[in-house]
Amino acid sequence: MKKQWIALLLGSVLSVNGICAQKQWFDEKDLTLTGAYYYPEHWDESQWERDLKRMHELGFEFTHFAEFAWAQLEPEEGIYDFSWLDKAVELAAKYDLKVIMCTSTATPPVWLSRKYPEILVRNEDGTILDHGARQHASFASPLYRKLAARMIEALAQHYGDDPRIIGWQLDNEPNVQFDYNKQAELGFRDFLRQKYHDDITALNRAWGTAFWSEVYASFDEITLPKMAQMFMNAHQILDYKRYAAHVTNDFLDEQCRLIKQYAHDQWVTTNYIPDYDRGIIGGSRQLDFVSYTRYMVYGDNEGIGRRGYRVGNPLRIAMANDYVRPINGTYGVMELQPGQVNWGSINPQPLPGAVRLWLWSVFAGGSDFICTYRYRQPLYGTEQYHYGIVGTDGVTLTPGGHEYAQFIQEIKTLRKEAAPLDHKPEAYLKRTTAVLWNPENYWSMDRQKQNRTWDTFHHLNHYYRALKAYGAPVDFISEEKDFTQYPVMIVPAYELADTALVGRWMKYVEQGGNLVLTCRTGQKDRFGRFPEAPFGAMLDKLTGNRIDFYDLLLPDIPGKVSMDGTDYLWNTWGEILVPGKENEVWATYKDEFYDGRPAVTFRRLGKGTVTYIGVDTRDGKLERRILDKLYARLQIPVLDLPYGITLEYRNGFGIVLNYSDRPYHFNLPDDSKVMIGTPDIPTAGVLVFKSQMKSSE
Ligand code: GAL
Repeated sequence: MKKQWIALLLGSVLSVNGICAQKQWFDEKDLTLTGAYYYPEHWDESQWERDLKRMHELGFEFTHFAEFAWAQLEPEEGIYDFSWLDKAVELAAKYDLKVIMCTSTATPPVWLSRKYPEILVRNEDGTILDHGARQHASFASPLYRKLAARMIEALAQHYGDDPRIIGWQLDNEPNVQFDYNKQAELGFRDFLRQKYHDDITALNRAWGTAFWSEVYASFDEITLPKMAQMFMNAHQILDYKRYAAHVTNDFLDEQCRLIKQYAHDQWVTTNYIPDYDRGIIGGSRQLDFVSYTRYMVYGDNEGIGRRGYRVGNPLRIAMANDYVRPINGTYGVMELQPGQVNWGSINPQPLPGAVRLWLWSVFAGGSDFICTYRYRQPLYGTEQYHYGIVGTDGVTLTPGGHEYAQFIQEIKTLRKEAAPLDHKPEAYLKRTTAVLWNPENYWSMDRQKQNRTWDTFHHLNHYYRALKAYGAPVDFISEEKDFTQYPVMIVPAYELADTALVGRWMKYVEQGGNLVLTCRTGQKDRFGRFPEAPFGAMLDKLTGNRIDFYDLLLPDIPGKVSMDGTDYLWNTWGEILVPGKENEVWATYKDEFYDGRPAVTFRRLGKGTVTYIGVDTRDGKLERRILDKLYARLQIPVLDLPYGITLEYRNGFGIVLNYSDRPYHFNLPDDSKVMIGTPDIPTAGVLVFKSQMKSSE
């Protein structure tokens, strides 16, 4: 690793990861704050004090109020009642619990839905959502937005200057609403008018409407695309998804602006679901930072071994951390399950220790707070079977409750020995890798997979899993970020691109960056059209390759790719490359009528390198082998952790997590001191050690 990379990396910790932003809202010395949701409106007022006192005694440092309480906050139109909430806030303060205040917009009161039924979400099949659940109001409805804004402003006026409130959560798990409400249709037309500068010809060109007589004479003729209709225009669907994401972000921005008029020392965030197809995370520009919700055990076995369904997918939290943290360096987890949930396919008990394992997984990524949904198990309502920190009697700690209490105590011990957040070993920092991600690529490829076995996330996981086996810090980044801060950048199946982006990739490489591009990248323009050029030609100068053609195979008759004497199976996507003379061929197809032709190439360009991987394999073993070779060439020191074991560093601590089904022995660096656990880590176990950061593992 060259010296300048180390300098750049250290610099990047400060700027890309926005540590400055973090300092504003959270005290680094706290490491993480831990909190629990409480819904005063669900319980007899006489129990509030007992519950909040107990929450405090268990070590929680904040609580979370008024998430779904619009009906109690505004019982009649324009008549607000915050007196009950005032009492709850007062009690929380009495027991040293700060409060996250919420805007309740996911649950409009019945008077609103009855008086203004036009605000209700309409599904594509015409069904209109109704009162009696939640998330039934259309974010595209100006009337709903006006009513929500009025209530939020009243709430912000009341609590904006209150030092007992640390911050705000907007709505609940705001998502892209695929809403067919009339207002959404009108909004879509306006969005398109703006995007295409009122020029219907430009839209016709962008959507390729000459095809099948789809041509529009005016924006007024455009409707929301019917996803269920076979062969619906893919360019139109892409713009519709962009519009739907824009509506949600716009609503969040509006809420945030309203609150910020009154709240000067309180942060504003929302609790996104961090799945990578959501397309909205990071889109709201007004939020102070992003937080997310995570559920790990709900039935499907995404874990390791027979009981993996009780522990969960080993990389699920890691990937969420790596996805949201780079947005501005600060993040929190708003919901982490305390035990069984109610909505899964099976809802099993987590393995003893698993709840604590998840808490440490969130911590390992560099988070500032962790909150659990929820303190008490509800006695009635849709989520009756959902565990809390305490059970149905309101007082008995659940197993997960015990694990939370243990985690909180452990964090308090660590606080005494914590170094600054970015105190991490050099060898670890040298492995820092960016993954360039834009959900629009997923939207586009998902509509035109070309092979039913194509799965964008499966493709991504091959690379992510390899990086985590290396013990590499990973940042998912958007195009807005400065690429030059990362020694290696992986760009997986980045279908939609333009010459400006390709130019930035080129510059990145010329200046010393190591770029890994994978199949399907740069094959379409931003409207989802093929450029009028040889297939894939946008990348030719960068990769030094031409794509002769691509092939797609049957799921049960895989093809072979050979690399350094080993064969790997593939089915989903294979590009047959024609490399330039300066390219090294790292892997070739081994059968079919293109036997011996290149699938993977590597070249040096300027001060950097370009690796092009034109094939997607079944099990990711080839992808791992390619990255092994690349990181070795670049002299980046990597680990070889078994699947299920992860290692991260923060605040001078190394955190090793065991999601596997067998004990794992971790070889501690010489200069380290065990803080929590032992080097022999059982399933669902955690090891935390303090490292002087001198040796390189
Ligand atoms: C989340 C949601 C919470 C609660 C929870 C139950 O997705 O944000 O409000 O419903 O699920 O597990």
